[in-house]
Amino acid sequence: MYRKLAKYYDIMFNNKDYANESKHLCDIIGIKRETLLDVGCGTGGHLVHLRQHYRCKGEDVSSDLIEIAKGKGLDVSLSDMCGRVVDDEKYDAIICMHATIAYAWDLHIAITNMVQRLSDGGVVIIEPWYSREQATVGRYDVSVRRDAGVEVIRISKGEIEGDRHVRSFKYFVNDANGAVSHSDIHSMELFDKDKMWRIMNNAGLSMAYQKPSHLFSRGLMVGFKHN
Ligand SMILES: C[S@@+](CC[C@H](N)C(=O)[O-])C[C@H]1O[C@@H](n2cnc3c(N)ncnc32)[C@H](O)[C@@H]1O
Repeated sequence: MYRKLAKYYDIMFNNKDYANESKHLCDIIGIKRETLLDVGCGTGGHLVHLRQHYRCKGEDVSSDLIEIAKGKGLDVSLSDMCGRVVDDEKYDAIICMHATIAYAWDLHIAITNMVQRLSDGGVVIIEPWYSREQATVGRYDVSVRRDAGVEVIRISKGEIEGDRHVRSFKYFVNDANGAVSHSDIHSMELFDKDKMWRIMNNAGLSMAYQKPSHLFSRGLMVGFKHN
């Protein structure tokens, strides 16, 4: 989905309230912090709002999504959140939204990388995926999104395999060129709050958890790095 269907990403998620989510992130980050990194920024849904308040950079592992974000004038580049950190710039705020963290093949490396890139006094905000208790299994979920003459239908079904939520997707896209279909499988680590808390805490962050709200139905993990 993040590659072959990248150009439909913004339609697929056109029900997401990026503007108000970003407002909430600003409330946590505050006005004294100046620089922000969005890990797994996708097409830059949050960055287009956050750049009004912070000097922003985004990174993602999908070159197709990165190209779309660049088209919005965003400062973004290709990077794997579990890869070796190559730039030595420090950021006052690092966000990792919309369950991007669940795609990490090693949660410990992904979080340690973020903390390494955080300024003293900085904040990390992570929006997790569902926990084992919340994840849907064995049933079909269907979403239909339409915009500008394009219709995207997404059917998914999840199973639990060990500590991962493995979701099979089938997409049907209808646009002026006709109809196409596409399938893919997403393996996402189930959110284990104690585990993530421990990793963030061991990496040097003092932790807070924001309970699920209308904007963030799975809550937010927030970690502060002290001066
Ligand atoms: C559900 S999307 C969220 C995108 C964006 N944060 C948003 O809120 O729209 C998950 C994103 O994680 C990215 N991703 C998956 N694995 C990654 C990795 N190892 N490193 C960086 N990004 C990754 C995908 O390419 C995709 O853009």
